[in-house]
Amino acid sequence: MTTPLTAWRIERYGPPEVLTPVTRVMPTPGPTEILIRIRASAVTRADGMMRAGRPLFARPFLGLRRPRRNLSGTGLSGEVIAVGNRVNRFAVGDAVFGEAGIRFGANASHICLDETNVLMKKPSALSHEEAAVMCDGPLTSYHFLHEVAQVRPGQRVLILGGSGSLGTAAVQIAKAAGAHVTATCSTRNTAFVAGLGADRTIDYTQADFTTLPERYDVIFDALGLSSFGKVKARLTQSGRYLCPVLTLPVLGAMLQSRLIGRRRALFAAAGLQPPAILCAHLAQLLAMVEAGTLSPVLDRVYPLTDLVEAHRHVETGHKRGNVVVV
Ligand SMILES: NC(=O)c1ccc[n+]([C@@H]2O[C@H](COP(=O)([O-])OP(=O)(O)OC[C@H]3O[C@@H](n4cnc5c(N)ncnc54)[C@H](OP(=O)(O)O)[C@@H]3O)[C@@H](O)[C@H]2O)c1
Repeated sequence: MTTPLTAWRIERYGPPEVLTPVTRVMPTPGPTEILIRIRASAVTRADGMMRAGRPLFARPFLGLRRPRRNLSGTGLSGEVIAVGNRVNRFAVGDAVFGEAGIRFGANASHICLDETNVLMKKPSALSHEEAAVMCDGPLTSYHFLHEVAQVRPGQRVLILGGSGSLGTAAVQIAKAAGAHVTATCSTRNTAFVAGLGADRTIDYTQADFTTLPERYDVIFDALGLSSFGKVKARLTQSGRYLCPVLTLPVLGAMLQSRLIGRRRALFAAAGLQPPAILCAHLAQLLAMVEAGTLSPVLDRVYPLTDLVEAHRHVETGHKRGNVVVV
């Protein structure tokens, strides 16, 4: 194919301005690959960390001096425009969504991916913008709440940061699992987070949840702003502190909590699960979408040409739900 492909390259680790648009030759799908015309792709906190090369201890994996995989973006949604001769799961014309994973390159006009990647057919109940963010907040929060904490009906769950990408999904997923859900958020987001299904909200600008008497079976620190030490007294005897942000203190708390007591601190890299498992989780999430218990939250939609601006907005730490480029 001679049509060029537009993508974004990360020239070096740094602020959003290191992102540079590039034109590449359109790939031809290999035997088990599909070529996707991307309609929408996610811009996430994790994408910002890859771009900035943070945390520093991740650089042996990301690339020491500059990103080893230097294209930007993972979550995507679009349509299949060509398939390899051994592709079984998809056909030309299918609407699909999923993620490029550690291959990156989803903030682009097109991408070629092996059909065994985390890819699913997109239901009509989801727009491309909504589908593009399913592998960030929804898939991550599903993994933490269902696989790591195994939340059961009637349990008390506290979501720290109920208005972000992970938080908006976590509130809905915990509620659908039958939990009693409390979420922290700011004054401006209180009604919004209650509307997602939180039974109770705590305005973090007015109150410190650690000084309140309630105890929780699960505390999901979606933004990694608290710590096991701070929340421990708010956990039930066998309560779980879940943190999706890996830091040395979180690692230390994981080790320590394994040795002492029944409360646990737990981290997981949700996206590193095998694709078959992630696809099974996405199928569960799609069932929730069909049932009306999950609706991905979109904050801002930018044109693909404004990726730098989209990264700047994500970096404020104040987005509500998710950001996409189209
Ligand atoms: N382990 C994994 O597998 C995995 C996967 C994906 C992401 N992550 C990580 O998860 C983290 C969360 O990402 P995200 O996209 O969900 O974050 P986000 O959307 O950027 O979070 C922004 C939201 O947090 C709220 N907020 C800010 N300060 C707060 C506070 N002190 N208390 C309560 N809410 C507060 C903001 O509300 P206001 O504007 O009203 O303050 C805003 O709505 C990132 O560090 C990301 O790297 C981990």
